[in-house]
Amino acid sequence: MPGKEEFVVTPYEVKGRIDYERLREQFGTQPVTPELLAKLHHIAGGELPPALARGIYYSHRDLPALLDGFAHGNPFFLYSGRGPSGPLHTSHLLQFQLCQWFQKRLGVPMYIQITDDEKFWSSKTGIAREETVHWGLENLTDILALGFDPKRTHTFFDSRSIAAMYPLAVRIARKVPYSTVKAVFGFTPSTNIGLVFYTALQTVPAFWPSWAEGRPVPCLIPCGIDQDPHFRITRDMAESFGYPKPALLHSQMVPGLLGESVMSTTGDRADNALFLDDPPEAVERKVRNAFTGGRATVEEQRRLGATPEICSVWALWRTQFAESDAKFAEVTAGCRSGTLLCGECKSQLLERVGKFYAAHRVARAKAKEWAESTIVTRAPRDL
Ligand code: TRP
Repeated sequence: MPGKEEFVVTPYEVKGRIDYERLREQFGTQPVTPELLAKLHHIAGGELPPALARGIYYSHRDLPALLDGFAHGNPFFLYSGRGPSGPLHTSHLLQFQLCQWFQKRLGVPMYIQITDDEKFWSSKTGIAREETVHWGLENLTDILALGFDPKRTHTFFDSRSIAAMYPLAVRIARKVPYSTVKAVFGFTPSTNIGLVFYTALQTVPAFWPSWAEGRPVPCLIPCGIDQDPHFRITRDMAESFGYPKPALLHSQMVPGLLGESVMSTTGDRADNALFLDDPPEAVERKVRNAFTGGRATVEEQRRLGATPEICSVWALWRTQFAESDAKFAEVTAGCRSGTLLCGECKSQLLERVGKFYAAHRVARAKAKEWAESTIVTRAPRDL
């Protein structure tokens, strides 16, 4: 069992209080530095995505080379994904909001993977196939509703796209020894063989444009740092195909409302997250009950200030809901100095969350009309 300071982060398990800097060192990835942010700022015409400016995307692999390539006329494509097991919560949108930002500013294509198969295999509660497929389509609609361009956005919905993906998947699978997946994911003798194969499918989108176009096309994968193990496998084999190693941009995990490291709702913890299909009363209740970094009494808080770094409400401002860096700085300073009390802070946040939900509902209804048309069903060739 992990001790107090211990934590575990793999694609199939996240637990303990995560020390992100230590995790980055363990994984051997690069820190996101001010120089890298300046480079991106320049390429994007004087803007930075909020989540990068606020340090949520804190780690990467090979991002500078990809950005330099872009600046010299070699565009990349984006790839990210979702394992569908239920309604999305706000934290699941983080990586897609970043992708949408890149697509809008730089006009690059986006590939989304919906892994209905992976979730069926990895579910600890024995989810039904019908459910992973149902949620796959629902989740895809929510993702597309963030403002993706229908003409430049493509979806690998694993069970529906498998005929298209399979010629590439078989080539990839041949390069992955069992000993590798066993070590990387910590598989045991009782792990089902679906998961043993699955990582090959998560590599497919990263190579797809290079395979389809017959030339190396650079790829950028924004993802939670828990997904890095899959892409170490992808990167290790890329050159053997003559494809570029995908660049990665890793985010921290969004903490849960109950004060846990991750906004996960596994088990009986529905109040740990804001689901996109929560009614306004549920959103209000969850935020009002959320764990904060506040003091025991108002008097103490006015005198000593509160601690944003441990507060789940501050994490929501930081990751997704502060509309400007100035607003984020104001909330942070008010919290630390004791001028902004938790009740008022929650009211201000709820106003933003409410607006986001209302706009999302409208965008989602439109995206529903074209979501399925993004699903890839044909391979560039059948061998
Ligand atoms: N394995 C991811 C999950 O469980 C889903 C996924 C597939 C993904 N491809 C991806 C996530 C690429 C990030 C980037 O949610």
